[in-house]
Amino acid sequence: MPDKHAIDKYDVIVIGGGPGGYVAAIRCAQLGMKTACIDKWINKQGKPALGGTCLNVGCIPSKALLEDSEQFEHISKHSNEHGISVKDVHMDIAAMIARKDKIVTELTAGIAQLFTANKVTWLQGSGTLLTDKKIRVEALENADSAIPQSDAPQPVIVQADNIIIATGSSPVELASAPLTDERIVDSSGALNWETVPQRLGIIGAGVIGLELGSVWRRLGSEVVILEAMDDFLAAADTQISKHAKREFDKQGLDIRLGSRLTRVKVKDKELLVKYTDHKGEQQVTVDRLIVSVGRRPNTAGIAADDVGLKIDERSRIEVNDDCETNIPGIYAIGDVVRGPMLAHKGSEEGVAVAERIAGQKPHLDFNNCPWVIYTHPEIAWVGKTEQQLKESGSNYRSGVFSFAANGRAKAMNQASGFVKMLADEKTDRILGVHIIGPMASELIGQAVVAMESENTSEDIARAIFAHPSLSESIHEAALSVSARAIHLVNRKH
Ligand code: FAD
Ligand code: NAI
Repeated sequence: MPDKHAIDKYDVIVIGGGPGGYVAAIRCAQLGMKTACIDKWINKQGKPALGGTCLNVGCIPSKALLEDSEQFEHISKHSNEHGISVKDVHMDIAAMIARKDKIVTELTAGIAQLFTANKVTWLQGSGTLLTDKKIRVEALENADSAIPQSDAPQPVIVQADNIIIATGSSPVELASAPLTDERIVDSSGALNWETVPQRLGIIGAGVIGLELGSVWRRLGSEVVILEAMDDFLAAADTQISKHAKREFDKQGLDIRLGSRLTRVKVKDKELLVKYTDHKGEQQVTVDRLIVSVGRRPNTAGIAADDVGLKIDERSRIEVNDDCETNIPGIYAIGDVVRGPMLAHKGSEEGVAVAERIAGQKPHLDFNNCPWVIYTHPEIAWVGKTEQQLKESGSNYRSGVFSFAANGRAKAMNQASGFVKMLADEKTDRILGVHIIGPMASELIGQAVVAMESENTSEDIARAIFAHPSLSESIHEAALSVSARAIHLVNRKH
């Protein structure tokens, strides 16, 4: 146990143990640096846990529920299409939540094991940046890490040559829909319901609204999603978002665009959700409500005023291309800085910063950072959308191939959707790949590798893909860029 009067010194201290912070800490330790990671997360069981939002209340638990609910829907509604008759299909929601919790516990415990194996010190508490690269750590009440417990709640001061801030983000709250225990919740609350709401309202048709809306619709809720914007999934390629909207409409997700929440009135058993759309004042009555209108970086109180850490107007820590803040030797990564709020983006920034601290020259191309929305069908993309290329006046060619002509997709009974490849007209270099369809989350990896390797559509067109496989649709989309897809009536460019 450290001497309570001495300041523990490290080569690197990471504040935040989510996918940005824990990955950065492990990479620093791998590179031979004495590393500590401060994290304040308390899990559902009231214990300190690593993994941050992603493992505890984000990527992993949401994907567990998406998987369960998709299997339930498949078995109950589509088994007969495969000649399988199933009677009395029942979903045990409590068992589903328990399975999700078990996955979370196993994975977060796994990070703790990785810390031990790599000799990363886990400081279970809340960190505040002070001057001279010191950090004040207020230990968690139930901490069992290297912070001296006899001194709690006395804060401990630690110091490092380099500091990486990876404090992540939290859900944006709306004054018009203040959260309650069970009935008006954010994404974390909606991952823990043990009964299915009959009528579910969701504010925001973004990634969380669509994923969690899909989960609860498949389990039996009537879902209404209110979206303030007129455009649906504006960040996606327009051809993809149009196809997605048609699919979600067919599934019964009632997505109301141009609908801005004004007020929620809580009645005994109901929530009266008032909103305005182009026709005027509207109201929808629901039993429960999820507020998913974006996330805000966790920067409040992160540094003492005299540190002078620059925070921008959107509460993000300002960083340069190397993730360094305005203070030399202090870096910030993940949701707390500019760029998409995605786990893999934060992790790769963490690796790059660790390697930079170690004197290496890592390279990250954010243009090649993939996006995935785990709805059914899945949506995934990397690089530029067609509308972005048009706006920038780029000359490009497009190749589109539908899963309807892919044998594997047909065999899987999942032939809705397509792959679209965009390539530079002159150099043929791939500029973007957009997929809606089965296993898009897995297929997009091929496009990422191709773009990272600066491949042309011709490179992909010349490669041999296994038959029958979903990947053949990427091959055919590449062939289609030069109007020579085999299983398609080709267009002239
Ligand atoms: P976080 O994961 O938020 O971790 C930050 C950590 O810092 C937390 O543990 C927090 O307790 C700790 N911390 C904060 N302040 C302090 C402090 N002062 N002292 C000590 N510790 C502190 N992304 C994807 O890429 N794919 C997905 O499928 C996906 N699904 C998602 C589903 C949901 C429902 C949600 C909410 C998010 C999802 N995301 C997904 C986003 C993803 O979770 C985040 O982008 C990612 O977790 C960000 O990582 P991070 O390390 O920057 O921050
Ligand atoms: P989001 O930014 O994706 O979507 C929020 C939506 O709410 C927007 O479409 C916005 O126009 C709408 N909105 C805002 N205020 C509104 C109001 N008052 N009334 C109605 N609509 C309103 O944010 P979301 O879904 O909360 O997710 C946060 C982030 O978490 C995502 O941007 C993503 O970075 C990450 N995430 C990633 C996932 C993945 O990679 N599969 C899954 C879930 C989350």
